Amino acid sequence: MVPKISTLGGYIFEYQKSITNPTGFWTNIAESFYWRKKWDTVLDWNFTEPSIQWFINGKLNITENIFERYLFHRGDQPAIIWEPNDPNEEFVTLTYHQLFERVKKFSNVLLSHGVKKGDRVAIYMPMIPELPIAMLACARIGAIHSVVFGGFSAQSLSERIQDAGATLLVTADGGYRGSKTIPIKEIADEAMDHCSCVKTAIVARRTGEQVNMVAGRDLWWHDLEEAASPVHKAEEMDSEDPLFILYTSGSTGKAKGLVHTTAGYMVYTAYTFRNVFQYSDGDIYFCSADIGWVTGHSYLLYGPLLTGATTLMFEGIPTWPNAGRYWEIVDKHKVNQFYTAPTAIRSLMALGNEWLDGKHLGSLKVLGTVGEPINEEAWHWYHDHVGKNRCPIVDTWWQTETGGIMISPLAGIIPTKPSFATLPMMGVHPVILDANGKELHGNSVEGNLCINYPWPGMARTIWGDHKRFRDTYFSTYPGHYFTGDGAKRDEDGYYRILGRVDDVINVSGHRLGTAEIENAINGHPLVHESAVVGFPHPIKGQGIYAYVVCTEFSTGGEEGIRTSVLKTVSKFIGPFARPDKVQIVTGLPKTRSGKIMRRILRKIAENQVDNFGDTTTLLNPEIIDELLEGAKRLNGN
Ligand code: PRX
Repeated sequence: MVPKISTLGGYIFEYQKSITNPTGFWTNIAESFYWRKKWDTVLDWNFTEPSIQWFINGKLNITENIFERYLFHRGDQPAIIWEPNDPNEEFVTLTYHQLFERVKKFSNVLLSHGVKKGDRVAIYMPMIPELPIAMLACARIGAIHSVVFGGFSAQSLSERIQDAGATLLVTADGGYRGSKTIPIKEIADEAMDHCSCVKTAIVARRTGEQVNMVAGRDLWWHDLEEAASPVHKAEEMDSEDPLFILYTSGSTGKAKGLVHTTAGYMVYTAYTFRNVFQYSDGDIYFCSADIGWVTGHSYLLYGPLLTGATTLMFEGIPTWPNAGRYWEIVDKHKVNQFYTAPTAIRSLMALGNEWLDGKHLGSLKVLGTVGEPINEEAWHWYHDHVGKNRCPIVDTWWQTETGGIMISPLAGIIPTKPSFATLPMMGVHPVILDANGKELHGNSVEGNLCINYPWPGMARTIWGDHKRFRDTYFSTYPGHYFTGDGAKRDEDGYYRILGRVDDVINVSGHRLGTAEIENAINGHPLVHESAVVGFPHPIKGQGIYAYVVCTEFSTGGEEGIRTSVLKTVSKFIGPFARPDKVQIVTGLPKTRSGKIMRRILRKIAENQVDNFGDTTTLLNPEIIDELLEGAKRLNGN
């Protein structure tokens, strides 16, 4: 198992070592894994092309580092505890041994359907055990998985399947989320109508609802698994062979398929998991994220299983059947580490403390947050009411692109400060740059957050578009990886993440590009153009505010347009991207060169009524009064 740091002095010592001698530091960590063949060179990199390679020419399989490596000691230990949506349904425990059997069988299923090393397999599933089994089977045979979050629409799913060129789709009949049943297969069918690359769909049964099975394409998971052999030897992978593609939003239209490779990702997620959460043998760890996002990949699945941990996977939502559900799960399974998003904490806090009454929560040792800045009020509520003033909170800052946690306390070791992600992980060199790219040295500085040295878990490229990878992350500040986030380094050298500095918004921990939502809205037949901005939202962190210019009104008038704009966004992206506010306008504030002055739109969305700064370059300054009037009506003030 990777080494665990247990004191502040240990952190300072190891951090220094990781900065002065990164290759020596990571060699030492990588030695604790099982390699078919060790690497020749630890690292080769440049941030110009960019080209990043770790553990060059090493040969391994990540699943051998989960199963074969641990089976002797841990065969009967639970690997995954699956807690269903309905608390009255039995939970399922899969030991390392049982999980291994199912992964091997499904590996053989994939192979028998023609999936080869390097092929892409799309996975669109609810949070059921077959989801991690499918991912691990892909990793075992060397296929590249591309998991698409189950909340995405058919259109988004089909775009992602086509971009990756997936030949096989793993899906399910349906899924449960709180009181809702999601018609997963129906959505997948609609998506597959538009992608000729998918030859086979394997369908897991969850809801038992009637679904349309297309002859020659669709097969039931349970039939295939039952007939499959449990004997399978893992494919030998190169350190830099892709492990998965995961799509995320950027400031321009199309989602980007970030590519993570095998060895660096393995070493980094395992090391950060063990150290940030201070995981000890026998602990029960619960990450509430959906596997469809990077947190689920790195810290529900890979990091924990590579550590031989017991990871709890929850199918449902925090507020169903009531707002005490998380706490019931913690007590029922004696959870030791709990990792969630600030938006969940804020929504539970708003529903009142009575849901915590009668809950013991005595097993908890560490609490974690991820995905968005946590405000002080939510931090204190989490600390006092859930952690009962005795559990350290790890506020972990990272991104889909970084593969693993970059800035965070190590639980109980680095002293915390509410709303600060605190100090960098081993091997991470954060720097703060001003708008001109000048590095701001010393403490008490604020600017754009960049990283100026590679770490093993970082993404290597964007699938099919390396130029976009370079342009997005390595050209704004040459020689640095640009995160897209603003940050402050305070008088103690602690980092506080201030939020995105680009046109990306973070809604309930979901990352969305404003351009992506605008494209969806513009797909409405009566919409001429639109502009989307974020605004502060008490529960979601940021809400979505859309200004929409219509060519004409349908019979339903303004309200009718609003409703149908929301439907359009659901259809193009998914229900989670629906704007909170839609303001119908006759025009947008534009400069003489036709650029939308978003600064003004953001201020109006934030309820500001004056001080719009320099508006002399506006072609249509009179529009501001109309926008203010409309916003007043919309906000009811
Ligand atoms: O803005 C930062 C925010 O989430 C963005 C990354 O989103 P995504 O790739 O979807 O990954 C989310 C889960 C790792 C970042 O650019 N973010 C993430 N964690 C934090 C955060 N903002 C503040 N504090 C955090 N702890």
